[in-house]
Amino acid sequence: MSLQGRHIVLGVSGGIAAYKTPALVRLLVQAGAEVRVVCTAHALEFVTPLTLETVSGHGVYSDMFHRGGERTTRHIHYADWGDLLIVAPATANILAKMAHGIADDALSTLYLAFHKPVLVAPAMNVHMYGHPATAENLRILAQRGVCVLDAAYGQLACGCEAKGRMPEPEEIRRAAETFWAEAEAATEADVCGGGDEALLKGKKVLVTAGPTQEPIDPVRYITNRSSGRMGFCIADALHRQGAEVFLVSGPSALKPEMPVAHWEKVRTAQEMYETLLRWWPDMDAGVFSAAVADYRVRAVSDVKMKKTGGEARLELVPNPDLLAYAGAHKTERQCVVGFALETDHALANAEEKRRRKNADIMVLNTLEDKGAGFETTTNKVTFLYKDGTSEAGDLESKVSVAAKLVRRLGRYMGGLTVWLLLGATVLGGLCGWGGGASLQAQELNCTFQVVTSKIQSGDKKVFETLQDALNAFVNGQKWTNLQVGAGEKIPCSMTMEVQERDNTTGTTKAYLTVQARRPVYNASYQTNLLNVVDRDFTFTYSEFDPIEFSDNNISSNLTAVVAYYSYLIIGLYLDSFAPNAGEVCLNKADNVVSMCQSMSEAGWKASERNNRNRYWIIENYLNGNYGAIHQVLYQYHRKGIDQMYGSPSEGRAGLLQALTELKALNDTRSGLPCKLLFMEAKSDELVSVFSGAPQDERQRAVEILNSLDPSNVQKYQKIMQAR
Ligand code: CTP
Repeated sequence: MSLQGRHIVLGVSGGIAAYKTPALVRLLVQAGAEVRVVCTAHALEFVTPLTLETVSGHGVYSDMFHRGGERTTRHIHYADWGDLLIVAPATANILAKMAHGIADDALSTLYLAFHKPVLVAPAMNVHMYGHPATAENLRILAQRGVCVLDAAYGQLACGCEAKGRMPEPEEIRRAAETFWAEAEAATEADVCGGGDEALLKGKKVLVTAGPTQEPIDPVRYITNRSSGRMGFCIADALHRQGAEVFLVSGPSALKPEMPVAHWEKVRTAQEMYETLLRWWPDMDAGVFSAAVADYRVRAVSDVKMKKTGGEARLELVPNPDLLAYAGAHKTERQCVVGFALETDHALANAEEKRRRKNADIMVLNTLEDKGAGFETTTNKVTFLYKDGTSEAGDLESKVSVAAKLVRRLGRYMGGLTVWLLLGATVLGGLCGWGGGASLQAQELNCTFQVVTSKIQSGDKKVFETLQDALNAFVNGQKWTNLQVGAGEKIPCSMTMEVQERDNTTGTTKAYLTVQARRPVYNASYQTNLLNVVDRDFTFTYSEFDPIEFSDNNISSNLTAVVAYYSYLIIGLYLDSFAPNAGEVCLNKADNVVSMCQSMSEAGWKASERNNRNRYWIIENYLNGNYGAIHQVLYQYHRKGIDQMYGSPSEGRAGLLQALTELKALNDTRSGLPCKLLFMEAKSDELVSVFSGAPQDERQRAVEILNSLDPSNVQKYQKIMQAR
């Protein structure tokens, strides 16, 4: 991030801080830059051209109409020559002109002609700085990609202590270096997003930065070597990409260069966690770069602890893990980025950490890399993504690491929106599901049917209102934070066939058949996502009992079962569009199972291992190696069935791959209920797809299918027999 050999045009406008600009020119020259100075007429009231000419070694340009052998188009010449324009001090007047394209002097004209990076260092009276007009002008410039430094706090020319001072020349030089490095990183070939458009415009992003201090007594504490630099660079990079930054930082001597919209300075991990709890629900993303102490002292002494001469012991208790909290509580639209500093088995450890903490992106750095980690201005990182891919980088400045990370975050968040919308659009477009366009509509479009043909007519009455109540419940409940329109809901059905009813106790036994579907791209049919019959279903219900459900307090087996399948359906649906995208919902289904362990009704307990057991279904999605099942779902749908319309051979290859992955899982995990989890929903579709395949593909498919689902050998035989 060097300014060596760069051409810098320094624009000086008429503020008292102009007297500091010779020092700034000197610093820039010392950093290896060539500097040309452009002044407004008012600037020359505060600093003489002779001084600026002496330090820069070149004439000062201020009068557009000066003849004397000079070019009258010098503004154009400088605009071509310069790599970077710094306007310092930038008065309210020049900022207003820049924001609105007024070109009536040398500097404002130069700005309009300048088509490369621009940095401004505002300096003015506190009230002028705070005036909505100035704030709006700064916002316009920032949105246009101008790097706007925050004015400093201190003694102002008017005599008061307030915000409005020009940042010190040294700070401006540093900012120029980092801005330059970012601008360079932005031009790297693989950057995402389109051109100059801010990638994270309007997104709220939380950043944790720095170390924490865990007190032992009033004078001692436990901390670590983190400087906070990486986090502050990230906050800056986010700001430049248009994000509203929510920064929470531990004690640090450094600070971000860009203005921070919301900044809480804390000391301990617990304080940082409390800030997170307050902010997280509103965030679009979180970048967790703080080196949070894993432990704190159990009993902090109120008085300074005395030396005893003997051994001393501190009892430590674990601190909350902020990243893990955010990962566990994120919605499908929220994105989480974590950092992993590893000393050994770096990749494996970081990937394990990414999964454990449910991060979308993990940034790995190792202490083995020279120049990486704590107390350095450089870093060498590898990005690990949720879809299993990774990207290793070289040793770079923390500024460019931050710029890259923020770009990848932008791309990832763009991707999230794309797949959520894609799923939604396909559903809406192809299926035309649901009527009305109520914005209240929730995720499921479920037809809940209560069938009472098996019970005495006298016992039926209680169910007359139940069907309506359950329909309203399952379709009206807000299962996730997804905002979906009526045409985008997931098509599914739940059919409850009442087997027995005891009217005196209200006990009901039923079979619940749950089916969910998903549209296939570019085709007019839907594929089955789930097809299960829950035979262990008993519940107590009396007419007009409320149908209520809360994730934390489950009181009825009826709503618990319905909630469980609702979460399962949404989780599988999301997984079918992007690998692991359904994890949050599947975890919620798992949570229902955990909450129901004390219920007397069957179907929930780990001990009741049978094919219909809800515990077992979710266990197999979520336990241990479960990433693999998510992957199979994704592979089957996006790489397989969705491709069938465009290229049947590619589609079949994708499906075979999914089946091969499933078989590998089945072979290594004894007892994986493949039939229940997968084949029950897919077998008919697979028969129909592979019946049209070339002979060798048919054979391969039948082999795998027979081994995955031996009870349906006859069915799969149809594939070979088809003409
Ligand atoms: N992190 C956090 N809160 C904690 C501890 C860690 O938010 N109490 C975050 C860090 O900001 C970082 C990530 O978790 O993004 C990984 O931190 P690290 O210390 O490497 O992970 P640990 O879970 O503490 O694992 P280890 O056993 O390697 O220390």
